Amino acid sequence: MHAQNSDPFALAQAAADVIATRTGITRHRIAITLGSGWKAAADHLGETVAEVSAPDVPGFTVSGVAGHTGVLRSVRMSSGEYALIIGARTHLYEGHGVDAVVHGVRTAAAAGAEVMVLTNGAGGLNREWRAGQPVLIRDHLNLTARSPIVGPTFVDLTDLYSARLRALAHEVDPFLDDGIYTQLPGPHYETPAEVRMVRALGGDIVGMSTALEAIAARQAGLEVLGMSLITNLAAGIQKTPLNHSEVLEAGLAAEDRLGPLLARIVNRITEAGA
Ligand code: HPA
Repeated sequence: MHAQNSDPFALAQAAADVIATRTGITRHRIAITLGSGWKAAADHLGETVAEVSAPDVPGFTVSGVAGHTGVLRSVRMSSGEYALIIGARTHLYEGHGVDAVVHGVRTAAAAGAEVMVLTNGAGGLNREWRAGQPVLIRDHLNLTARSPIVGPTFVDLTDLYSARLRALAHEVDPFLDDGIYTQLPGPHYETPAEVRMVRALGGDIVGMSTALEAIAARQAGLEVLGMSLITNLAAGIQKTPLNHSEVLEAGLAAEDRLGPLLARIVNRITEAGA
């Protein structure tokens, strides 16, 4: 077992050291957190050179949520650079605190990443969207009332979801729509009234993971690309009740399309010089 470390940045450095030792790769240029529906991307990105089970890496636990792999992978891309694929995500609703939620992002930064790709499965508020559709995150509303940052560190979030990276994603797929991701604490889905509130606030996407991770990524100096798979229309917009298996099914059904799309976007980013 590893000694737990009360300094989250030291814990992330310890995690990165273990990843470097276990994969033999000292620098991962880009890191990707795979949410529901995005798993297949790892197979399309390039050659997997090593896999590390999440509980073997300091600070990581196996997520209690079905749909997460619990594995970190090192993949060699066509550019010759390495991507770190993080198939383990801790959600705020698991009760381990915000540092645990953003540990993957901080580990990515400590492993040398300059770009952080955050993917998730989420509900959509735009009636033109369909379950199984990927959308780019343009900005976010953090409705968790939490921050991963403690103390007077005033991080700028003006261009949090990098316009440069979104433009590269559009080069790969010009038809990708975008929207404002709204993070709520969960684990319950929203009420229809909350979905109307989110709409009134300007949100287009509802989810439980990505905003806090993106903030920590920016604090760590990473450039962020965020993408949501719309697994369902949000409560009250879709006429049927929401359930987690429907979310997982939509993810599985979309995986064959999302994997190659994400792989092409990530390769485009590395070609452009991450
Ligand atoms: N709301 C919040 N999180 C989600 C949803 C939703 O509708 N679908 C998938 N994750």
